Amino acid sequence: MKLKALNGFKDILPGEVELWQGVETMARQIFTRFGFSEIRMPILEKTELFARSIGEATDIVEKEMYTFSDKQITMRPEATASLLRAYLEHGLHVQKPVQRLFTIGPMFRHERPQKGRLRQFHQMDAEVLGAESPLVDVELMSMGSMFLDQLGLSVTLELNSLGCPACRPAFREKLLAFIDARHEALCDDCQRRSATNPLRVLDCKNRNCRHQVEEAPSIQEHLCQECADHFQAVQQGLQQLNVDYSLNKFMVRGLDYYTRTTFEFITSDLGAQAAVGAGGRYDGLIERLGGPAIPGIGFALGLERLILLLQQKNETTLTSHCDLFIAGLGQAASSLAFSLVHTLRRNHLHVLMDLEDRGLKNQMKQANRAGAGHVLIIGEEELEKGQAILRNMVSQEQQMITLPGQIQDRQTTIDALLTIING
Ligand code: HAM
Repeated sequence: MKLKALNGFKDILPGEVELWQGVETMARQIFTRFGFSEIRMPILEKTELFARSIGEATDIVEKEMYTFSDKQITMRPEATASLLRAYLEHGLHVQKPVQRLFTIGPMFRHERPQKGRLRQFHQMDAEVLGAESPLVDVELMSMGSMFLDQLGLSVTLELNSLGCPACRPAFREKLLAFIDARHEALCDDCQRRSATNPLRVLDCKNRNCRHQVEEAPSIQEHLCQECADHFQAVQQGLQQLNVDYSLNKFMVRGLDYYTRTTFEFITSDLGAQAAVGAGGRYDGLIERLGGPAIPGIGFALGLERLILLLQQKNETTLTSHCDLFIAGLGQAASSLAFSLVHTLRRNHLHVLMDLEDRGLKNQMKQANRAGAGHVLIIGEEELEKGQAILRNMVSQEQQMITLPGQIQDRQTTIDALLTIING
């Protein structure tokens, strides 16, 4: 029997992992620029944490969680609940009134695998805890947009408000009356949902259900004054920062903890799995988990979907390509190359060489494959003259570099290489 990875679980191999590293590095840089600190939580949590936060009547909790039912523990299906548990457990709310935290790691949902949808997937998740201002919503969405923009991805930001416990019940009743009148025409899932979670009917993917709810009442027109003002201020802030967005009254989200602002980053390039990221405000959730009344907002981006989009653009790496490949020919040249490579790496250059005594043609192939910016060729003849050829792989220009006669002269060669390569 051939041993294979489980369906919906995927290895990330060299050749692809570079792209992951590039995306993660860029996220860390941008999130840090916005004042976020990294936090890392365990993958297993008590099942109750997810039931109480995500909501009993959600697809995630009802049917998608990997739960060890004999132990009442679950592999996290998302990061927000775990992050809030850690935030409360370690009293981070006491240390600082506003906490900005991010985390990157695997999540687990037992969904039907398809392109962009896995059972183990990875999220980059950012949360701001302790701030109610609509400007925080704006800042968070602008951070997501800036990040996606820097990745070179064109993604639409869709925005909605889900109101609060003061205004949502009345809207729910109105929507329920609308849905009840069309009950028979809805899919089985929606007929079931209309009793437990009627707002979810609004974002059913079934084409007929979509048609049925086209004229449904809009929550944006049923917000209480506080929620309406908040929503207005969020939109003004986005306009002030020139962050493009479009309103989507059908966006409900598959997790029940949201209040007020909800948003999704949508692409048209991934078929059915259109959301590359999503999030929103969850004022009230921290209290529900046993903490004080602290507001919160956050979002998570799906790494697999970002990687697919980048691969579709033929992006192979976002990190710097190999700076220099040193091709040594013959034993003496290879030995010199070996120590030069080591010293250049200590000087922060990305340097490669061949350790298997292969010929020049083969070594040039390796340099090309690694995307080397320069190749330093140390042939036997050149070595005798104390020189090597440095080829710029983009312009194809060549120049001679003086090799160290004595070990103590090595720094001159290193300095010359660093000056040229670092431009
Ligand atoms: P979510 O919409 O369930 O929200 O997931 C966020 C993102 O994770 C999605 O937009 C998608 O890119 C990715 N994702 C979700 N499920 C899968 C899957 N099976 N395969 C691949 N990618 C997937 C949350 O998880 C919330 N915790 C977001 C949040 C943070 N809200 C407030 N703070």
